[in-house]
Amino acid sequence: MEGKEKFRTYKGVFDERTLRTIFKLESEGYFDELRSPVSIGKESNVFTAIKKDGTYVIIKIYRVNNADFKRMYRYIGPDARFKGLSNQRRKVISAWAQREYRNLLVANKIGAKVPVPYAVSENVLVMELIGDGGEAAPRLKDCRPKDLKKFSKELIKNLKLFYKAGFIHGDLSEFNILNYNEKPYIIDLSHGVRLDYPNVDELLERDIKNLERYFNKLSLKIDVNTVMKGIIKNGI
Ligand SMILES: Nc1ncnc2c1ncn2[C@@H]1O[C@H](COP(=O)(O)OP(=O)(O)O)[C@@H](O)[C@H]1O
Ligand SMILES: [Mg+2]
Repeated sequence: MEGKEKFRTYKGVFDERTLRTIFKLESEGYFDELRSPVSIGKESNVFTAIKKDGTYVIIKIYRVNNADFKRMYRYIGPDARFKGLSNQRRKVISAWAQREYRNLLVANKIGAKVPVPYAVSENVLVMELIGDGGEAAPRLKDCRPKDLKKFSKELIKNLKLFYKAGFIHGDLSEFNILNYNEKPYIIDLSHGVRLDYPNVDELLERDIKNLERYFNKLSLKIDVNTVMKGIIKNGI
């Protein structure tokens, strides 16, 4: 199939402008063809896509007509990076895609294990696929690490790097961590806020408490206070 025809099957799923954005990224060479849907979340659809050279990427498409728009607007409002953002639906949704892209960039630059971001245009983000042969690595929720201690240490190391790079994840849980060959890769960075965000420590604490809950169930104790202190001390 040629050009826009390739995306015909997604009519009805995405609006015209989103289809045009997908087509634009395709014609710029970021990918050649959408392949399999990986996930349909509240805010976005995630696909694998193949490139001309046979390698795979992930395309995350934030749906403009999602039901969570009001919450997204409230949550991105106090983010200094998006000051003055109007409440126009498309702009707010695009800001979430941009924020995920920027967070991925800085995290990647500092050496944290996150997908490499390749491109963002409006509400569509292209990034590295974490996994092999076009198959996304399993989520931590579905794939218990063999060495819990080692895995959790590695995770916390990544959170320290995030903090050092100037932001916290804000939506961390076993759903947003992939277990790729026994190494944690953190994904879904769209909630990530900078350290000047109101009540940022509470958001960080919530992230760590989610980890505590997950590891506790598997009988590995995590001390939230110690981890928090370690992150904050290390970060500044
Ligand atoms: N870079 C990636 N590599 C592999 N799988 C991914 C990647 N990004 C997302 N996924 C998969 O898609 C799912 C949804 O992505 P996520 O960014 O968490 O969006 P949301 O939770 O907002 O729907 C993830 O749980 C994971 O299975
Ligand atoms: Mg997620």
